[in-house]
This record gives sequence, structure tokens and C-alpha cells, in this order.
Amino acid sequence: MERRFGSTRLVLVQGDITRQAVDAVVNAANGSLLGGGGVDGAIHRAGGPAILQECRELVKRIGRLPPGQAVVTTAGRLPARHVIHTVGPVWRGGDRGEPALLASAYRESLARAEEAGCRTVAVPSISTGAYGYPVDLAAEVALGAVAGRLAAGSPLEEVRFVLFSTGDLAAYETALDLLEVAGGR
Ligand code: APR
Repeated sequence: MERRFGSTRLVLVQGDITRQAVDAVVNAANGSLLGGGGVDGAIHRAGGPAILQECRELVKRIGRLPPGQAVVTTAGRLPARHVIHTVGPVWRGGDRGEPALLASAYRESLARAEEAGCRTVAVPSISTGAYGYPVDLAAEVALGAVAGRLAAGSPLEEVRFVLFSTGDLAAYETALDLLEVAGGR
């Protein structure tokens, strides 16, 4: 499924984010930036030690990466130039600021991609795995934040949501349809 916001294509695909040939891949990291499972594990496994090396240097400087913020490293052996590490919120029921932090994680990731001169970015479904964010609620927040930022103007040519399961893809397709109905376009 594909829509245009501003001059940028917003695309939904099912697949493995480590196999996307784009300028930047967004990682659903944790605050330690030292790796983990899910997307984090897949990116470090496929990208190799160069990514972790740069993460360690970053952590030496900043300590931890707070939820909603994003930093850039090399993409190592991935078919990309950069990995943008962001930390989504852990779901705690929805009234602990989770939606705002999730929106910030996407917006900050796109900001880092633009600053790095990227034209194409692949993003995962942040926080909907180990962090327990219900995927239908996350999809609404994620697409609203990304579409809103792109509609305001962006040098990015494509933002590609890479969903791991057919269920997740369906949730994002439904949310994108709702966004249009709600006049997001
Ligand atoms: N490509 C695309 N999507 C993937 C991939 C992959 N290779 N692997 C997993 N996913 C999907 C999951 O199915 C889920 O829908 O990414 C979504 C996010 O799940 P997680 O990777 O668990 O990320 P998150 O929920 O943000 O939890 C982050 O998990 O891996 C640790 O170190 C990480 O502590 C951090 C936490």
C-alpha cells in the first residue's frame, strides 16, 4: 500500500527490515544501545560489529538514549548507509505518555535521516514487540506522526514501514485508510 504526503511516498510492506536497500534503517533499540532481540537483534546480527562499536562510543558520550530520541550510526554490512537507533516507550496502559513518546521516536528518527542527507528510510513497528504496545494503537500514532511531518514538507522521497507479520501489515493498512478518511490528506 502506498500514499503520498507532501512530496514523500509513504509505503507499507511486509518483510525483514535488515534486507531493505535504503539510505537509513531505523532500529527499535533500548536505552543501553547495546543490542537485544527482535529488530535490534536482527540489525546487529546482519549489520555486524561496526554498528555496536559506534553504539558503545555514543553511550560513552550520552550515557543512555531516552525514549523518544534518536541517534545515527553506520549500517555496517546492511544494504543501507546508516542505522538510526531510537527507543520507543514501554506500554503501560496508555496513560503514561506512551503515545507522545512513540510519535517522538518516529519524528526524531526522520529528523536524523534528513540531517544525514537520506532520501529513503525503512522504519519498523516500534514498541509493538517486546515493549507490548498494542499494534492497532501504535499504527495510528506512528502513521499520524509520520504523515503529519511529511505533509509539512520533507526532502525524503520514501518512508517505508516494514512490517514483520501479515497481521501487523493489516493493522497499518487499516490505520492508513482511517488517516485518509479523517482528512489527513
Ligand atoms: N524486520 C522487521 N520487523 C521486525 C523484525 C525484522 N527483522 N524482527 C521483529 N520485527 C517486528 C516485531 O514483530 C514487532 O512487530 O518489530 C516490531 C517491534 O518489536 P521489537 O523488535 O521487540 O521492538 P520493541 O517492541 O520496540 O522492543 C524493543 O526489544 O529487542 C529489544 O533491545 C530491544 O529492548 C529493546 C526492545
